[in-house]
Order: sequence, then C-alpha cells, then structure tokens
Amino acid sequence: MTRREFLSAMAGLTLIGIGGYPFVRRWMSSQGPLSLPSPPTVAWNGNIKTFRYVIQRGPVTLQDGTRFTGYLINGQFPGPELRVQEGDKVQVTVVNQLDQPTTLHWHGVNAPSPMDGVPGISQDPVLPGQSFTYEFIASPAGTRWYHSHVYEMEQVPNGLFGPLIIEPKTTPEPYPTQHELTLMFSTWGYKPGAGIDYGMMGNTGMGQMMGGGGNLSSSNQGLTHLVNGKIPTSLQSIKVAPREKLRLRLINASGTESYLLAIDGGTMLVTHTDGNPLQAPRVVSELYIAPAERYDVIVTPPRSGTWYLRSSLAGQESVRIPFSTVGEVKSSPAVGANSWSYLITGSNSFGSLPAVNHSVQLVLSGGMMMGGAWTINGASYPNTSPVKVRTGERIRLEMVNRSMMEHPMHLHGHSFAITSFNGRVLNSPLIKDVVNLKPMERCTIDFLANNPGNWFFHCHNLQHMVGGLATVIEYKDYPLPHVDKWM
Ligand code: C2O
Ligand code: CU
Repeated sequence: MTRREFLSAMAGLTLIGIGGYPFVRRWMSSQGPLSLPSPPTVAWNGNIKTFRYVIQRGPVTLQDGTRFTGYLINGQFPGPELRVQEGDKVQVTVVNQLDQPTTLHWHGVNAPSPMDGVPGISQDPVLPGQSFTYEFIASPAGTRWYHSHVYEMEQVPNGLFGPLIIEPKTTPEPYPTQHELTLMFSTWGYKPGAGIDYGMMGNTGMGQMMGGGGNLSSSNQGLTHLVNGKIPTSLQSIKVAPREKLRLRLINASGTESYLLAIDGGTMLVTHTDGNPLQAPRVVSELYIAPAERYDVIVTPPRSGTWYLRSSLAGQESVRIPFSTVGEVKSSPAVGANSWSYLITGSNSFGSLPAVNHSVQLVLSGGMMMGGAWTINGASYPNTSPVKVRTGERIRLEMVNRSMMEHPMHLHGHSFAITSFNGRVLNSPLIKDVVNLKPMERCTIDFLANNPGNWFFHCHNLQHMVGGLATVIEYKDYPLPHVDKWM
C-alpha cells in the first residue's frame, strides 16, 4: 500500500488519543539519540488535525548536569515535532498553565493574522489559566517552526519552540530520501549583547567581514549550544548506511547565534531555503545559518566510521553532531564545493528587478553607537513607521544594514523572494521568510500582499527585536487596528 492509499484509507476516521500519526514514511526524530516525540493527536478527522499543548514550568536537566526550570509543552523540552500535510486544517489548543501570558507564532506559515501570536499586533496573549485554539491551514509545505512570541527572551530559549513540518501533497517528492532527521539548533542561557559583533573583532578587515566565513567568532561563552534540546557532544552517534541519502532539516532556533555548518570531508546538497524548494539544488561545502533560518540538505556518508556535522565558528566547538556509517564507504565524494550564499544560484549586476507597485526603504542601524537601541529609519519600535500596503500589491522592501551586527530580518504571514543582494540581481530569486544582513550588506525582498492583516517585521536576534529593530506591515484594507503595545 502506498502512503497516499494508506492516507486515503485513513481519511474519514476519527482516531482518539493515539500517539502521533501512523505515517508510513520513517523519520528519525521520533527515535534515536535526538528524539523529539510528536504531540498526541487529540482528533484526526479527514484533514482536520487537532492537538493539545499543555504549557507549564518544569525541571529540565541537561547532559552536563545543568538544571533549570524550563517552559515545557506536554512535559517536553523543547516542544514536540508537529507534522502535518499541506492543506490540512491544523488546530492546536494551547492550555496556559504558566503564571504569565504566552502565545505561539507559526513561523513561516501563512496563517490568518488573528492566529499569528504577536500581542498588540495580531493576537491578544493567552493569559494564565486560559486556553486558546490556534487554527490554520498548513501552508506552504516545508520546514517551518513555532515559538512563543511573548517574553521571548525567557520563554523561547527555555523551551517554547519546536519544529513544524508540513509535508508536501505533491507526489513524488522532488528530492526523495529514505530517512530524514530534524536538527533544531538553539542556545540556552543569557548573555547581553549576544550574537556575532563585527565591531568587536579587532583587526578583522572589511574584506573578511563581507566574506562571511573565516574566523568569525561568537562572543558567547555564557551560552550552552543545544541540538533538539540536547548537548550534541553527549550524543551517541546517529547510524547511517553507506550509500544512504539522509535529509536533514536544519532549523536555527537560537535567539542570537548563527552557525557555520559543515560535514567533515563531505558536502551537503541544499534543496530548500526556509522550507521552500530551490529551482535547482546546490552542493555546498559549508552553510551559514542565521537565527530563524532553515535549510533542508541531503547528505551521504563521506567516509566509513564516525564523522561529524559541526559548526566551525570559534566558540562553537561543542556544536558537533556525531554520525557513524554502518558499513564501508568506498569512494569519497568530490570536494571543492563553494560555501552557501544567497547569490549561489547566479546573479548579475546589470539585471533588472521585477516590477512592483510599491517600494519602501528601510535602513537598519543602532547598537553600541546608539546606546543599545536598534532602529529602522532612525526610530525604534513602537515608534517606527508602519509599512502600509493594500491587498494585491507587489511590495518591495529595500534594506541596508548600517550597524556592526548582523540582522536576520523576518516577515510574518508571507514568504518573500530575495530579488537582489549587495547590488546583484538574483537570476532565480530565493524564496524565504528570513533574510540575514551582515554589516553594510543590502538587499531587496519582494512579496505579494495576499494575506490581509497586521504583520510583524523584525530582526530575529531577540535582543535586537526587543531593542526596537521591528516594524509592522499594515494592510490599509484590513479593519482591525494594531495597538503597538509591547508585551
Ligand atoms: Cu519567528 Cu516574529 O518570529
Ligand atoms: Cu538584529
């Protein structure tokens, strides 16, 4: 029985209280050293899938013995892997048993504005003792995630985040693999000014800064790096067959840190950016992933025995996930691939940008030189001017980063196309919902205004967001005002 036949055989049944979906496709998150169990399905009626998330404080012990009181979803740290199919109607009832408000934001999903989880902009917070049922159609397909959007600097790193995988309806999958594994990177702990500060890098020249690789170092000794909530060096290795193609869904859930990921002696085939398929996949030697970005990559074992997926930024030596090949690898893959870059699919300086109805310039600045405040066009949220759009318009945001730190900018409720980067027009625009700008970098991103509402647009370095690097995309034809009330 194929998966499709199986699913249609199951359609119409309501299953009460089963643990996870009886999907036939194997995915590895639910087993092995990096387990992130699925949430119990409360009901499954045709394509309506209902889940219950009880949110509470509770003890967490990391593999190095560190203990803290986390924010748990159904007793789990971090949250479960929510897996649905494109087009499903997803209902998640959040039961808030905290002593503070909370919400969930469905990052990368085109949910309706009142389900988007940003207090003061799209949704009132879920108060202690209350519950709220989120309801949205699972779209677009791909690697998405969810996280709290209230007291983010406390609630997110302490547990209120998890993967949301929307499996595409189309069969066959464009890049089929036998196994897949979700790897969600995060940081636990707090350090003011966290993130990579290009202003603190001593003699590092501009050339190196713009190159993005090399000796960038994370300023963050105070942070513990986790993968799926675990200290990766404590893990037993993940077993892979010699010729296996393994799909990794890489999600950066850290509120401040980027990673530069590579496989020792191997390459990765990048197939999706923030969940959206590339027109043609690209082989890379290393992959820079900024906060809130996702990349799907396919890897094959580079050698027999043990090998690692690791981050090569200084200070991130503990970000090292062990794999081991069960059997012998005969030929090693060709080397010499390039690093990932937004320009990897080709670009040129003379190309012309697609037509849009409305273009808005946003200058990102602030930080140390502004006494710690972060600004867009000289103002900090909530004093930034909203970007006003109308349903049906094509909108362009032209951004430049005039500060010494990088800014992974995220648009709620829409995916956008990166149409140009550092003055070069992309031959095939990348579809994403986060674009990272290092110091002095600039880009244009285009989106179709097709989801009326009020939408947060902000830096996903949570310290920068709270410091004011945010604005709102406001639909003129959407009746509900937002109130700019910062939670
Ligand atoms: Cu990941 Cu405002 O969101
Ligand atoms: Cu930022």
